[in-house]
Amino acid sequence: MRVIIADNYEAMSKKAAEIVAKTVMEKPDCVLGLATGSTPIGLYKELIRMHKQQGLDFSKVRTFNLDEYYGLPPEHPQSYYYFMYENLFKHINIPLQNVNVPSGLVKDVKAYCLHYEEMIKQAGGIDIQVLGIGGDGHIGFNEPGSSLGSRTRLKTLTEQTVKDNSRFFERIEDVPRFAITMGVGTIMEARKCLLLANGTKKANVVAQAIEGPVTAQVTASVLQLHPDCVAIVDQEAAAELKRKEYYTYVERMSQQFDKV
Ligand code: PGA
Repeated sequence: MRVIIADNYEAMSKKAAEIVAKTVMEKPDCVLGLATGSTPIGLYKELIRMHKQQGLDFSKVRTFNLDEYYGLPPEHPQSYYYFMYENLFKHINIPLQNVNVPSGLVKDVKAYCLHYEEMIKQAGGIDIQVLGIGGDGHIGFNEPGSSLGSRTRLKTLTEQTVKDNSRFFERIEDVPRFAITMGVGTIMEARKCLLLANGTKKANVVAQAIEGPVTAQVTASVLQLHPDCVAIVDQEAAAELKRKEYYTYVERMSQQFDKV
């Protein structure tokens, strides 16, 4: 895993945007895997800036989001569709028929999840998957104990996730208890993964994911097995990494090669 330690949230977001933009420029009809949460907001802001100021073109890009709360309609202000529309889609030139966020309203969940997987396949697979990490180590909503081979399905959220996400809702009782999420196996099929984390609160779980054993108890740790995963963390989130100096050294040394 390539580990980039950025000075702060802004630098983390800029570096992530540089990597995503490179994919979009090299392959204008690429398939982006997107994430919600506080972490990628800076990345999306930077992509919007690149679109507006540098003409970064999303007209042929297709997207698949990791997850959606089960039970929330797309127009609900806390739904992930709404989040993506407000924080990215409405500011760039992506046709809305090219964006895919799992539906939180489907009755036949099993059939729908198979369909979501099929749509990813039909699109040619995900070129780059943006990921945040939950306080409990999840990627997507793959809570501790999720099979490392899991596919898109309905998951029950942990108490910690419900608590973490309650900051966006008026009352904790309003936080949905279920979500439809890509599986760990689905995520691992993306050609490139981009894991982002910032803030002191993530320091411990980041160290577990990057340097701990690969375990279903911290689903982000499976990224150690991914052939092309880049983790970009800010100084605070990097605080508990044992090999922090080495990662910084590697990045400095690799500047002599043509690496974004
Ligand atoms: P956050 O969430 O970006 O809001 O910290 C990350 C996650 O739960 O995956």
